[in-house]
Amino acid sequence: MSEKINSKIITFITGNPHKVKEAQGILNNLGISLEHADLGYPEIQGDLEDVALYGAQYASRRLGKPVIVEDAGLFIKALKWFPGTYSSYVQETLGNKGILKLMSDVEDRYAEFRSVVGYCTPKTEPEVFLGTVKGRIRYKEKGRYGFAYDPLFIPEGYDESFGELQRVEKNRFSHRRKSLEKFALWYKDQG
Ligand code: IMP
Repeated sequence: MSEKINSKIITFITGNPHKVKEAQGILNNLGISLEHADLGYPEIQGDLEDVALYGAQYASRRLGKPVIVEDAGLFIKALKWFPGTYSSYVQETLGNKGILKLMSDVEDRYAEFRSVVGYCTPKTEPEVFLGTVKGRIRYKEKGRYGFAYDPLFIPEGYDESFGELQRVEKNRFSHRRKSLEKFALWYKDQG
């Protein structure tokens, strides 16, 4: 048996406790157990895939275990897909209020969340899995659930923002659900 099949426990490398809870909810339902380590890894310049590929390889080699990392972002069409790969920096600096200011006269509210999961073991090359959820940006923040951009984002087919949806509901169809589900299907196929 390969190392991958023996080890059904995967370590999620992240410093974000919200992501851990979401990922555990999603992967446990799909039969994969998740541990968590706040190990940190260098976030290289590049798109979400580049960051996840590099981070997964770096962390699995350092930890000596199979790992996943996840890099996500909010992409707003009218802002030429900003903040995109700068989502973390923009959340810390402009914040949601700053985004709303930039969007105050903008009619086209289309946006998407993207999530890329990177998976790697100490002896293999990294794999990446993309998940996207379409939606629109509210005119005001709303909701007390979730984190970061969630109160701004209304997923397609809904009237509520992610910030108004409880975790189980967001987990049913979020960008993170889609990327993790793609990963889980691929992973189970490796046996
Ligand atoms: P990260 O680099 O993947 O941690 O995410 C980039 C930025 O987007 C950070 O400010 C995150 O808090 C934010 N972010 C990532 N995923 C979500 C989400 O599911 N909802 C709201 N904000 C998110």
